[in-house]
Amino acid sequence: MGFSKRSSITYIVMSLAMISVASAAEPRHFPFSAFDEKTDQNTFHFTQYSSIDNGALQLTPDTENEDHSLTNKSGRIMYHRSFTLWSSDNEDGDGVASFNSTFLMNIYRENNWIGGEGFAFLIASDWNIPDQSYGQWLGLTNASTDGNIGNHMVAIEFDTRQQDFDPDDNHIGLNINSVRSSKTVSLKPLGIEISPEVGTNYSVWVQYNGSSKVIEVYMAKHIRTNPPARPETPLLRETINLKDYLKQDSYFGFSGSTGNTAIQLNCVLEWDLEVEEFKTRKDMTLLKIGVPALALSVLFVLWLGFGYVKKRKRTSLEESDVLGTLKRLPGMPREFKYKELKEATDNFHVSMILGQGGFGIVYRGTLRDTKTSAEIAVKKFSRDNIKGKDDFMAELTIIHRLRHKNLVRLVGWCYEKGELLLVYDFMPNGSVDRHLFSNQNTLNWEHRCKILAGVASALHYLQNEYDQKVVHRDLKASNILLDSEFNARLGDFGLARALDQERNSHAELELAGVAGTLGYVAPECFHTRKATPESDVFGFGALVLEIVCGRSPGIQLIHEQHQFSLVDWVWMLHREGCIEESVDERLGSNYVLDEAKKLLLLGLACSHPIASERPQTQAICQIISGTMAVPSVPPFKPVFTWPSMSTRYSSTDSTVSNITLSRITLSHL
Ligand SMILES: *[C@@H]1O[C@H](CO)[C@@H](O)[C@H](O)[C@H]1NC(C)=O
Ligand SMILES: *[C@@H]1O[C@H](CO)[C@@H](O)[C@H](O)[C@H]1NC(C)=O
Ligand SMILES: *[C@@H]1O[C@H](CO)[C@@H](O)[C@H](O)[C@H]1NC(C)=O
Ligand SMILES: *[C@@H]1O[C@H](CO)[C@@H](O)[C@H](O)[C@H]1NC(C)=O
Ligand SMILES: *[C@@H]1O[C@H](CO)[C@@H](O)[C@H](O)[C@H]1NC(C)=O
Repeated sequence: MGFSKRSSITYIVMSLAMISVASAAEPRHFPFSAFDEKTDQNTFHFTQYSSIDNGALQLTPDTENEDHSLTNKSGRIMYHRSFTLWSSDNEDGDGVASFNSTFLMNIYRENNWIGGEGFAFLIASDWNIPDQSYGQWLGLTNASTDGNIGNHMVAIEFDTRQQDFDPDDNHIGLNINSVRSSKTVSLKPLGIEISPEVGTNYSVWVQYNGSSKVIEVYMAKHIRTNPPARPETPLLRETINLKDYLKQDSYFGFSGSTGNTAIQLNCVLEWDLEVEEFKTRKDMTLLKIGVPALALSVLFVLWLGFGYVKKRKRTSLEESDVLGTLKRLPGMPREFKYKELKEATDNFHVSMILGQGGFGIVYRGTLRDTKTSAEIAVKKFSRDNIKGKDDFMAELTIIHRLRHKNLVRLVGWCYEKGELLLVYDFMPNGSVDRHLFSNQNTLNWEHRCKILAGVASALHYLQNEYDQKVVHRDLKASNILLDSEFNARLGDFGLARALDQERNSHAELELAGVAGTLGYVAPECFHTRKATPESDVFGFGALVLEIVCGRSPGIQLIHEQHQFSLVDWVWMLHREGCIEESVDERLGSNYVLDEAKKLLLLGLACSHPIASERPQTQAICQIISGTMAVPSVPPFKPVFTWPSMSTRYSSTDSTVSNITLSRITLSHL
């Protein structure tokens, strides 16, 4: 079989930033906090293809999916409010606001990509993006608007693709209403490459002095352990009276684009914006938006995310509400003191970090309060995070009522001084993905079968045996934990929601957004924007194929010059009568052929593009246990049709119908 060696794209997930808007903000450091796709939705305006993903502003898509590719895209992310850049009072003469914009950017490309097209720091009269502004237009203008004085736009471009009017494919420029820069500076002679083959972070300082009307741009390679100070000499220095070009009230932000063949990821990891603002007559105030950031970890993971952004209503839960709700929960597990958990986790020490779950960091801990010490996992929700509270409540209200041997058990909780923590049993064998993709000890066949049987059983419980139907919404290998005997325990109920026709709990409604992980997300979700039991079955199908084949569902396989997703590849082998060739080659011959075929066919059946054709959890459990025949799978993957017939719950379920597709993440290891 001639497919390519496991292609693993490594994108470095960086940054941890937190926005605080205050005139005298204390610098706040939030380890592992980031631009947060939940809490920062209202902090910025996003255009169709821009999003926050993996703690970074993604100007253009950082993944491909059914709705869009990486090519020919443009996007803008602008700070949510405008700034008054000069005084209308004549006595102030031509006073213009000074500002400093400091950001950390990463223009990432795979080494087989031609980088392009470019990225820009932008000041504009509004946050909308012109149509067709991909390619050379950098999300700034388009073929018909370029050069119009009515654009009221000034930008600093970081251009990675040469047009006939450009000096080269690696320069910065000052752009006034046009992508034809009024001044450019080639970076190559200065030893700077905007999008080198090895992902590189750059610190950029754009400073404007409103009295001298001088704009300066500085840039330095950013090394986490030794962050650069602003260089002495600017790369670009120009005199420009912004009042001549910009509207009095303007927005600050970023734009980026990709082209037909040239693609890159346009990411901003941190941003610190200081604008001197004219508010009322002669009353000049300094408004500071700080985005301080502190990075503690390097995650070499491919995180490609897709964000379809919709503004959400936020409600704030009062502390007393949270406590009240917690205490009223029947059969509520134990309440911990913050101090106990702090001690158990060595003061939430970095070395105790197990991972980063949906909405917080998970620490390992040891409770020493009893004679026998107990190992726990502590999930700490981000502080000062209103959305976090809702997520916490959702997770808590759902998971505390669930009891099943294949679900992670909630041991207790803590809510003190605004800190939210959930305590779980510690799972000594970590998550499935770590084993599956580890180079030394991959999972043996018995373990793989046992894990799939366990997950199927948990899924069946969630959908049928529990009094409300629960949709997990984020089934994937990294959310399946393993106990000491390699029994699967489904965890991370941060995205789960109960489907309840009568009662719409606050937490459930607030937890809007079909989230999930690309490759595991059912095709209909891109249309309906809602998760259903059938879409969880689809996710299970992806998991089956992943575990049997030892490959990520989002991965693209090349076979005879055609690109296949994992499911399409397995389907092709099935058609050719050699489905067993897809079994993880690292297993050698140490697997049971009939079982492997059965599981692969089950995986395909669950991946049926039409939701109503997927097997139900009861059948899945029976097929796995061998009490029901293996499903028959057609030789060609059926075509996905939309609209399709209604699914089991969609017609009656009004609770979920207003969910928006908010985020899909694809993670490869
Ligand atoms: C970029 O910054 C992130 C932290 O924000 C860090 O994890 C990563 O290693 C950096 N990349 C490089 C190439 O320095
Ligand atoms: C911008 O930074 C410079 C130092 O580099 C400082 O002197 C100036 O006051 C800052 N301006 C604003 C508006 O914060
Ligand atoms: C440029 O953008 C404007 C505003 O979105 C739009 O009306 C116009 O059709 C676009 N021009 C081209 C050539 O796409
Ligand atoms: C801005 O320019 C004015 C006038 O040229 C100068 O006096 C002032 O020091 C400058 N401010 C900064 C922060 O460089
Ligand atoms: C990108 O846009 C150009 C025209 O602007 C078009 O010729 C090309 O086919 C497009 N490429 C893709 C991959 O859509």
